[in-house]
Amino acid sequence: MSKIQVKKAVIPAAGLGTRFLPATKAIAKEILPIIDKPAIQFIVEEALDAGIEDILIITGKGKQEIEDHFDANFTLEQNLKAKGKDKLLRLATETSNLNIHYTRQDHPRGLGDAVRHAKAFNGNDPFLLLLGDDIIRGENLSKQIIDLYAEKEQTVIAGVRVDPNKTKNYGILDIQETANPHVFQVVDMIEKPQNHAPSNMAAAGRYILEPAIFKILDELEAGPTGEVELTDALIQLQKTQPLLAFEYQGEWFEVGDAKGMLQASIIFALDHPEVKDEFVPYLKKLAEKFADV
Ligand code: G1P
Repeated sequence: MSKIQVKKAVIPAAGLGTRFLPATKAIAKEILPIIDKPAIQFIVEEALDAGIEDILIITGKGKQEIEDHFDANFTLEQNLKAKGKDKLLRLATETSNLNIHYTRQDHPRGLGDAVRHAKAFNGNDPFLLLLGDDIIRGENLSKQIIDLYAEKEQTVIAGVRVDPNKTKNYGILDIQETANPHVFQVVDMIEKPQNHAPSNMAAAGRYILEPAIFKILDELEAGPTGEVELTDALIQLQKTQPLLAFEYQGEWFEVGDAKGMLQASIIFALDHPEVKDEFVPYLKKLAEKFADV
C-alpha cells in the first residue's frame, strides 16, 4: 500500500489577537515579529520544510498585512536591486512566490469554525493544521506528525507536556500508552480544564486531520463562549475512529501574548546570526545582575 504523504496545510489566522492589545489594534498579531521575522513566517517555513506544497491561510478583517507579506514588494525590490543590497533583496523576496492561498472567516466564531473554511481547499485529502500562536524550536514537528500519519493513517494531535498548573490554558489530552514511547492513543480531550486535567499533555497547535472532521464541524453547535471548538469536534471524531497523540520533544512557545513572545524572542536571539554575538554577553550580564532576585 502506498503511504499517504500530506501535502496541504491550513493556518487559521483570523483571531482578533485581544491577548496582545494594544499592539494588535492596527496590526495583525501574526505579523508581530520574533526578533525580525513575523511569527507566521516561522509557521509557513515549518510547513514548507515538512514537504507541504500548498498552504491555505484563513484570514479575516484587518489581516491584509499577511497577504502583503507573502506577496512581492516591487518598490522595495527595485530599491534594493539599485543599491546592490543582495542579502536584503533575498530576505525581501524569499517570502513571495509561495503556493499560499487565502480565504476569509467572516465572523470570529472560534477555531473550529475557522477550520471549517478549509473544506473546499482540502477536498478528500488529509491536511496539516498549524496554529499561528504555536512556535517550535528543534526538530520539525509538522514533519514528525506527517511521517506518523503516513505510517498509521490516523488523525494525529501533537502534544507537549506542560507544568500541571498550566493545564487550564490548553486543550488537554487523556491518553493511553502505546508500544512507541512518543505515540499515545487519545481516549478523550478537555478544552482548558479548570478543575481536573486528565494529564499534563497539552495540544500543541499541530494536527493531521482527515476530511471527516468537516462533517462534524458543520453539525457542531457553538460552545458557551459562542465559539465552535476544534476540541469538541475531535472528541466526537474519537467516538468513531482512533486518534493518536504524538509527544513533541523539542521546545514549544505560545506567542499569542506578550510574555510568550518575549520568551521566544530571547531564545531565538541565541540562534540569530546577526544578533547572537552581542546578545549573548548582554544576557549573561543581565543574569549576573539578577542572580539574587
Ligand atoms: C488552542 C486550542 C487548544 C490548544 C492551544 C495551543 O487554544 O483550542 O486546544 O492547546 O490552541 O496553543 P487557544 O490558544 O487558541 O485558546
